[in-house]
Amino acid sequence: MIIAVDGPAASGKGTIAKALARHYHLPHLDTGLLYRAVAANVARMELDPAKEADAVAACDFGALILADPVLRTDEIGQAASIVSAHPLVRAALLQRQKRFAHQAGGAVLDGRDIATVIAPDADAKLFVKATPQIRARRRHTELQTHGSTLSFDKVLTDIRARDERDSSRSAAPLVMAPDAVLIDTSFLSIEASIEKAIAIVEAHSPR
Ligand code: CDP
Ligand code: CDP
Repeated sequence: MIIAVDGPAASGKGTIAKALARHYHLPHLDTGLLYRAVAANVARMELDPAKEADAVAACDFGALILADPVLRTDEIGQAASIVSAHPLVRAALLQRQKRFAHQAGGAVLDGRDIATVIAPDADAKLFVKATPQIRARRRHTELQTHGSTLSFDKVLTDIRARDERDSSRSAAPLVMAPDAVLIDTSFLSIEASIEKAIAIVEAHSPR
């Protein structure tokens, strides 16, 4: 069983994907981490994220560190959204994600283009959304927990900028697949979001 979970920043897609993976005993891949790791590499190598050749040079898997706390920062989130718009960066990360999705036994992946590009054949497709204000509040709280002093307004501005960039790019933009099911988590608790996601998967998947 392949479960695709897409949505904008801080919509709750990671929380939902993790819970589904636990519930169905499936491996989980947070694909945003790949783009964040590329962005962190670009910074480490003192390259320019806006230049496609620079961003591609930072895609070496051997050098991608997926457990680095720096990947959570707002700055790396923004840079990830810049590097991820380059078609050659997406191409460099494509097979790794497709292999993960199509491994024996299935998988849960969350990101922006799982249902549209990585696994259009997914058994269940969820599109998670919430209002920008609520997403910014969640991300602001999260960043504060990790020691960030960024203001709420800055976090909201950055979320809006990322929404705009991710949705308007020509390579694998953030769009809801026509056969995806929407979950609006704006007024749902984490528990309620997870329950709803499981109910949707139960209704749409083969088992
Ligand atoms: O957790 P959050 O939603 O804030 O971000 P993320 O999922 O870690 O993704 C960071 C950035 O990577 C996004 O803003 C996208 O530009 C990019 N991304 C993408 O293009 N495709 C994916 N499948 C996942 C992330
Ligand atoms: O993966 P994505 O960036 O879409 O979001 P997330 O990391 O799953 O969730 C962002 C934050 O919102 C986390 O701190 C979650 O605990 C929180 N959250 C929430 O407060 N209510 C929900 N219904 C879902 C997530």
